[in-house]
Amino acid sequence: MAVQWFPGHMNKARRIIKQTMSDVDLVIEVMDARIPYSSENPLVDELRRDRPCIKLLNKSDLADPAVTAQWIAYFEKKLGVKAMEISVLDRKQVSAIPGLCRKMLPERGTAVKDIRVMIMGIPNVGKSTLINTLAGKTIAKVGDEPAVTKDVSSAQQRIRLEGNISLADTPGILWPKIENPASGYRLAITGAIKNTAIDFEDIALFAADYLRQAYPERLQQRYKLEQPGDSDIAVLENVGRKRGCLRAGGVIDLQRAAEILVHDIRSGALGRLSMETPQMVEQEIAELEQANDEPASAERGGDKEKP
Ligand code: G4P
Repeated sequence: MAVQWFPGHMNKARRIIKQTMSDVDLVIEVMDARIPYSSENPLVDELRRDRPCIKLLNKSDLADPAVTAQWIAYFEKKLGVKAMEISVLDRKQVSAIPGLCRKMLPERGTAVKDIRVMIMGIPNVGKSTLINTLAGKTIAKVGDEPAVTKDVSSAQQRIRLEGNISLADTPGILWPKIENPASGYRLAITGAIKNTAIDFEDIALFAADYLRQAYPERLQQRYKLEQPGDSDIAVLENVGRKRGCLRAGGVIDLQRAAEILVHDIRSGALGRLSMETPQMVEQEIAELEQANDEPASAERGGDKEKP
């Protein structure tokens, strides 16, 4: 992720997207199917208001299909939302999108009334790849992000697609979820946060703990283990031992083991994995809300005790 988000960036993006929304009929939010909650930005739902929205769970070729199905049901509970799994690397799958836009807005998409579409999402979810595939040529740079969303009216061009659909040529870039620590880990594990900002050992321990519970058999198969390990560190040590990551004196090089594990997750070498489920996330949200409430209630309690 090339963008470092600061409050100033967030305010600017929010302002521009708010202005831009008046010229948008339909929003396509691109998310990472392995981490749909952590790669979603709540601002999309806040700013689109009653405009229809297609939530694309992209990179579904890397995600666990059973968990992706749970996420689709989760998102479709939201008003005006059609959720769909996709791999935007597959042209055939992308070619279904214009038809879906027309289905969602049957009264537009005519010679007099284009369907004006805006693509939004956090960095690295596949927005540029999607724009280029829809346009049939390279317009947006893959893997390269400008720091903040550009104003559609002044800086962007519109691309005409088949069936009277027009698309802004650069996506609305939003910030990743930062308030939930688990989301930060998952974004780093899946590669949405720049490697230089990452402590590999730290994120690999988080991943190891999740995988040993959610996908123990994958760890066993990939690293030829009898048991995955009964703690985060035990998993990482097992990976290191099996892959010959040893320092002088036979000490396991956890940094190297961490890099191997994270690389294997990102590349799909451990199979199709999802890093979060709706149930996990609902529990995390409840815990976050409770933690946010606690200081306030403690303060109120403190006030009461004052004479
Ligand atoms: P962005 O505009 O939202 O920032 O994303 P972009 O299109 O630049 O895509 C980010 C990376 O994700 C690219 O890889 C791209 O090829 C990959 N990608 C996009 N869609 C899919 C998909 O459906 N499946 C898979 N497997 N990969 C996808 P990259 O340039 O190699 O970057 P990186 O992976 O090294 O970060």
